Amino acid sequence: MAYWKKGPIEMGKTPTGKNTSGRGQRDLKVKVKSARGRTTSSTRWLQRQLNDPYVKRAQSEGYRGRAAYKIMELDDKFRFLVPGARIVDLGAAPGGWCQVAVKRSNVLAERGGKAVGTILGVDLQEMEPIAGCELHQLDFMEDDADLQVKEWLGGKADVVMSDMAASSSGHKQTDHLRIIALCEAAAYFAFDVLDEGGTFVAKVLAGGAEGDLQKLLKQRFTKVHNYKPPASRSDSSEKFVVALGFRGEVPDQG
Ligand SMILES: C[S@@+](CC[C@H](N)C(=O)[O-])C[C@H]1O[C@@H](n2cnc3c(N)ncnc32)[C@H](O)[C@@H]1O
Repeated sequence: MAYWKKGPIEMGKTPTGKNTSGRGQRDLKVKVKSARGRTTSSTRWLQRQLNDPYVKRAQSEGYRGRAAYKIMELDDKFRFLVPGARIVDLGAAPGGWCQVAVKRSNVLAERGGKAVGTILGVDLQEMEPIAGCELHQLDFMEDDADLQVKEWLGGKADVVMSDMAASSSGHKQTDHLRIIALCEAAAYFAFDVLDEGGTFVAKVLAGGAEGDLQKLLKQRFTKVHNYKPPASRSDSSEKFVVALGFRGEVPDQG
């Protein structure tokens, strides 16, 4: 069976039936008092963290961050993390997406002594090990970083996903251009390593300059979706592009 053809999953639920949306939880709000040495913005950040249902769920369910719920919700909708998939996770730290990929691709279930599927995570930052994942510290924007990742991968991939984001400069347009550059680098890597029918998932920021990338993805994939999962904060301009059905090599035009 093709890697992406798995059975239907009810929206907003994991394959085991757990609700992934994080909605419908009624918690009392925690108020954070401003403290000496803490800026207003860090007080606001702390208050938001303490009151965020996804942060609480991540802590209680053992995920390394609330980002885990974004990839769960993307996968609930588009179903690409399937048993046996060969997955590359770019910008993987601290590891929430990898943890979800391990569960959904069934990578820890060995068949005939061989792991089913593979997960390769790469990030600028060092990561704590995750069972079932091969993790490397690397700046993906360095010269020849793609060649290094290809070497680690050692073959084709079914899914290339990127949650890469540079730390905020505070300047919206600059941040937007940086994230598009990361997303483009991930996309060209995906063109190089995806098997036919493969999936590309990447974080982008709504802001205008992503038009060229969308055009390019539409040429190389049968379907391109833009989706903001419920776990993505409504006050953030972040959204995700999910390109399905990689067409494979482009025939030589010459
Ligand atoms: C939002 S976090 C990813 C969270 C991750 N998906 C998770 O679930 O834990 C973005 C990550 O992108 C990484 N990143 C940014 N630029 C990068 C680059 N040039 N190469 C590799 N990783 C990069 C950052 O170090 C950061 O860990």
